Amino acid sequence: MNYTITTPLYYVNDRPHLGSAYTTLASDALARYQRLRGRSVMFVTGCDEHGQKIQRTAEAAHVSPQENCNRISEEYRHLWSRWQISNDRFIRTTDPRHKIIVEQFFRRVEAAGDIIEGQQQGWYCVACEEFKDDKIDSEEEERPQCSIHRQYLEWRDEPNLFFRLSHYQEQIEELIRNPNFIFPINRRREIENFVNKGLHDFSISRVNLPWGIPVPGHQGHTFYVWFDALIGYLTALLRSSDPPDLDIIIKRGWPANIHIIGKDILRFHAVYWPAMLMSAGLEIPHKVFGHGFLTREGQKMGKSLGNILNPETLLDQYGRDPVRWYLLRDIPFGEDGDFQQQRFNDLVNNDLANTIGNLLNRTLSMTRRWFSNSVPPADTAISVNHPLAEAALTAISITLQAMEKLDFRCASETILKLAIDANIFLNDQAPWSKIKEEKRKSEVASDLYAVLETTRIVAFLLIPILPELSVRLQKQLGIEKTLDGAEVCVDDSLWDLHLRWGNLVEGNPLPEPTPVIARLELETKK
Ligand code: MSP
Repeated sequence: MNYTITTPLYYVNDRPHLGSAYTTLASDALARYQRLRGRSVMFVTGCDEHGQKIQRTAEAAHVSPQENCNRISEEYRHLWSRWQISNDRFIRTTDPRHKIIVEQFFRRVEAAGDIIEGQQQGWYCVACEEFKDDKIDSEEEERPQCSIHRQYLEWRDEPNLFFRLSHYQEQIEELIRNPNFIFPINRRREIENFVNKGLHDFSISRVNLPWGIPVPGHQGHTFYVWFDALIGYLTALLRSSDPPDLDIIIKRGWPANIHIIGKDILRFHAVYWPAMLMSAGLEIPHKVFGHGFLTREGQKMGKSLGNILNPETLLDQYGRDPVRWYLLRDIPFGEDGDFQQQRFNDLVNNDLANTIGNLLNRTLSMTRRWFSNSVPPADTAISVNHPLAEAALTAISITLQAMEKLDFRCASETILKLAIDANIFLNDQAPWSKIKEEKRKSEVASDLYAVLETTRIVAFLLIPILPELSVRLQKQLGIEKTLDGAEVCVDDSLWDLHLRWGNLVEGNPLPEPTPVIARLELETKK
């Protein structure tokens, strides 16, 4: 079964920031999870490279727009590879094949009678690349500002081509009534309010904007950046050997199963895009998930405040696992979240180093010492009635359900709780005391087996959230063929098999323990 998942296509007006990394990391976790479940995943990310914002950025940097796009998109590509993002595609909207797909799409929409000429008047935010007429701060202001960017809006009065969105009022109403389409639920209400006010046609072309795809048959018009960018999700699905053809794309994993985006661009994905697709006779994505925004120590991140968290710096300082853990474990996916340095250190140290890392480390040390460096005989621990087996079974079922709902926090907490249960069990059983009596050695073997087996399940459950740490845990447990969810599971029941209690093989050699994660010292309050 196919599973297509997309991140937004990021604007190349600036370098990647933590906001873009957040969406991409969460999407990566979902992509890995779906692969482990045996689905043939198509994970798309990329860059959105046209429009006024990009043109102006290039002008300010005294380079051509194309040069600027090449440079910044390369930074994105490089960043994702450093984060070991498992994307299958990286689409750039300046790809020549994309131009052809946009033209084909437009011709379909035009043939459906949904393109009309009109005059566009209104206040425009270049930073948002959006008309703001329904969102401006104050009617009285002579020159209103954008409430998001605090930049002056620009008055536009020009002939544009319009997409007949109003024609799709009923179909969009029906679509957003589908309880499985927009997530999280509170954001669905925002969209309902917007749609209930009545949908207006929106302009899909610009005049006097050279940095865009020319509209076929309409001299002097280039496509509005959003019209072109959304179609990028389709172009991305083409294989390198495919000719650029919309009819082929629909066989390559369209419709998307999910678009993961930030809450600020939900309207484009849940209203404009579905209507465009309806007009072009293409299927609608199954789900749109609008996550929240990140702040830092309670403050909005911005250049002027000088508090932007650079994902590259975070990676250099802490590595992949700690950042993934913090973002996915601490912030309810869908709600806004705050990055706090102290809490970051505490969670990494308590959860990963102390609870999970230590559990494995001390269990391995004892096992190796008393059972000749290998997995001890299981005896009673193999029984599914063992308290840790029961705990593991519950944790597996909750984690899988949570991952289906993109509830990364619940999944992470559940896995962590399983590790805590194993720690408690170990402390209660105190094998270090029991081992002093020779006749209790088999009991000790059982206890240690049960704890190692729980740690193995913790490791396998963790794959989507912390693939790297998981692989280290797997290796420490002597598992040779490790899994990280980056590749399609050829055997789609493989993960399920790994998630069965009692899979750790008695007598298997256990390597010498090394710390799986370093503790963080709080060196700065900044
Ligand atoms: N180019 C459009 C998307 C086109 S998709 C066909 C765009 N790009 S963007 O680079 O401005 O934003 C990309 C994503 O980053 C958006 O989903 C946005 O919500 C997200 N974020 C931007 N700042 C953010 C935070 N501070 N926190 C979390 N996500 C944030 O929009």
